[in-house]
Amino acid sequence: MRHGGRGLGLAALSLAVATVALSRVGDAAAPGVVVPAKVSSMAAAVKVGQDLYMHDTFGGARTCNTCHTNGGRGPGKLPNGATIPSLQGAAAAFPRFVPATGRVISLEQQLVKCIRGGMGGKPPALGSVALADLAAYVTSLSKGAVMGSQFAGH
Ligand code: HEC
Repeated sequence: MRHGGRGLGLAALSLAVATVALSRVGDAAAPGVVVPAKVSSMAAAVKVGQDLYMHDTFGGARTCNTCHTNGGRGPGKLPNGATIPSLQGAAAAFPRFVPATGRVISLEQQLVKCIRGGMGGKPPALGSVALADLAAYVTSLSKGAVMGSQFAGH
């Protein structure tokens, strides 16, 4: 009985440790989406990315879906009411040259920019699982899109 109780305690402890390891803690209003360290398929990664897109504020005040509405399908709407283009096909035009900075940015860097600027949040690190999953979801919106429109004229 005592032995069994301890076993259960250890199991509960390792479950707690695993849960901490797998979670990113968001703010109280919008708890962070659980980002597993590993998933078994592309579809599963896209699902995690979609959850981040729809629900995570990354510690800021908005989600991706606040501006890029309907999961990024169809035109989006900024808080000031201005319309922005759909994210369908957007990933197919990265990396992209940004004249203002004279640099080429990756899709992940664009997401970091939106999280920092548009959401007032703290972006996941470049190379992190969360950012890769988010990029996987955004890229899924470009399935079948023609790549390379940014190279027009080259
Ligand atoms: C406050 C509104 C706002 C939020 C929230 C926001 N974005 Fe953006 N996003 C913009 C604006 C405005 C642009 C276009 C200007 C720019 O590049 O910053 C943009 C551009 C983009 C682009 C490039 C679109 C293209 O046509 O090339 C992608 C991809 C993108 N956002 C994804 C995201 C994702 C994913 C999130 C959530 C992590 C997010 N954005 C959150 C406003 C927002």
